[in-house]
Amino acid sequence: MRIDIITVLPELIKSPFEASILKRAIEKGLVEVHFHNLRDYSTNNYKQVDDYQFGGGAGMVMMIEPIDKCISGLKAERDYEEVIYMTPDGKTLNQNIANELSLKENIIILCGHYKGVDQRVRDQFVTRELSIGDYVLSGGELAAAVVCDAVIRLIPGVLSNETSALTDSFQDDLLAPPIYTRPAEYKGWTVPEVLLSGHEAKIEQWREEQALQRTQDRRPDLLED
Ligand code: 6GU
Repeated sequence: MRIDIITVLPELIKSPFEASILKRAIEKGLVEVHFHNLRDYSTNNYKQVDDYQFGGGAGMVMMIEPIDKCISGLKAERDYEEVIYMTPDGKTLNQNIANELSLKENIIILCGHYKGVDQRVRDQFVTRELSIGDYVLSGGELAAAVVCDAVIRLIPGVLSNETSALTDSFQDDLLAPPIYTRPAEYKGWTVPEVLLSGHEAKIEQWREEQALQRTQDRRPDLLED
């Protein structure tokens, strides 16, 4: 998979890719992530990428020309299945979307900034608009990093134990059950007996019950329909 990230603040989004699972996925050659500084595609002397909005109003708007130059340049090199625009008014990211995106070969992620992009960018180039929740961030970069993390960890070979992504919370629309490790007793606090029993079928049944209970208690909305 190849991800091209277009941003006015590359330094804000690079670090998650320089640590932990994402770094290893890149080193293993399972994913390529490329950063494009929009200012490099500006056509004027001030490296301008934003301008006042027509009709007046507070806040700057990201201009279409640098974005067009950047996206068109990328598209001339390879086909992209998705051009994703990160914006608080996009569809909220969920596990289904992450699963879907993990199957793509080449995607572009455009990080919104200021008031957002000229509407013509959305109309002409964008195939999908994503948010990561109902709160406002100062830009799309951190949200893009969240999307990349959720997607990249699903690519086969990225997680060392390939089954572990399948047992994540949300992967079966249930939250994950409680987990324990040694010691079996700490300060008198014990671990559920069934987990120490070695009885695989009973353990599996207990985990399913706990997952359901936890989902009913915390996220009943996940159980609707
Ligand atoms: Cl994608 N962008 C911004 N600026 N704020 C957000 C967001 C995105 N998702 C949630 N809040």
